[in-house]
Amino acid sequence: MNSNVVVKPSAEEVASAACFWLIDSIRQSIEQRGRCVLALSGGSTPKRLYELIACSCLTSLDWSKVHLLWGDERNVPSDHLESNFRMVRIGWLDPATSIGSGEQVPNFYPVPIHVHDPQKAAYQYGQTIRSVLGDTCRIDIVLLGLGDDAHTASLFPETQALDSTDGFVANYVPKFESFRLTMTASLINRARNVAFLVCGESKAPALEVVWHGPKDPVLYPAQAINPVEGQLWWFLDSAALPPCDRVALDH
Ligand code: 6PG
Repeated sequence: MNSNVVVKPSAEEVASAACFWLIDSIRQSIEQRGRCVLALSGGSTPKRLYELIACSCLTSLDWSKVHLLWGDERNVPSDHLESNFRMVRIGWLDPATSIGSGEQVPNFYPVPIHVHDPQKAAYQYGQTIRSVLGDTCRIDIVLLGLGDDAHTASLFPETQALDSTDGFVANYVPKFESFRLTMTASLINRARNVAFLVCGESKAPALEVVWHGPKDPVLYPAQAINPVEGQLWWFLDSAALPPCDRVALDH
């Protein structure tokens, strides 16, 4: 596993750096394999990245060759404030459609929350992922965030999804008293590129334990993310850097 760390002074500059990297990575994937399968992160950190991509949709990329998956989803309707699909639709898909004609928008595959059964939705989405990936079983780019408790996607500490070798599962999260739907570390680690976007001082303790703490992916699930043959990227703002890394990395 190769790891790359990009540190920027502000969250806006992190989003901009990640956008340039993402556009270039998508372009490389299309050039090398004829298409790009991109799994999106939820949460709030990537919102600005998605807005910037919407503006760059007029780049020379052939967006018809880009396929969007969701790395995880909340068990709420797709128009709910908490929906990760809604966040991407508002930040990227709707603006991109209004900017250019329809082909400016990638092929996208939301998690089928409408089936009103987390296990059934997870099973169906696993089928969708397999049909999109075909024989490769490898996602080209996975975007991830990091929670204050060192969770990523919806792989929360001490939850059942951490042990799963399936690709996409329903994961009961006791602290929310609800299910989340999530890609597993097993699927994420087969990706060609995995990129964390982590901003804000509140993330520094979690990042410190993920990078330097005891190895315990059950308590610190982001430690389970180690792409087997892929590249691991960290896009951080200075505030999220652990203090012990600030001299070496924050320049
Ligand atoms: C989600 C995300 C989750 C998120 C982290 C960080 O559905 O919420 O997939 O893993 O990336 O919780 O969230 P913020 O970016 O809002 O800090």
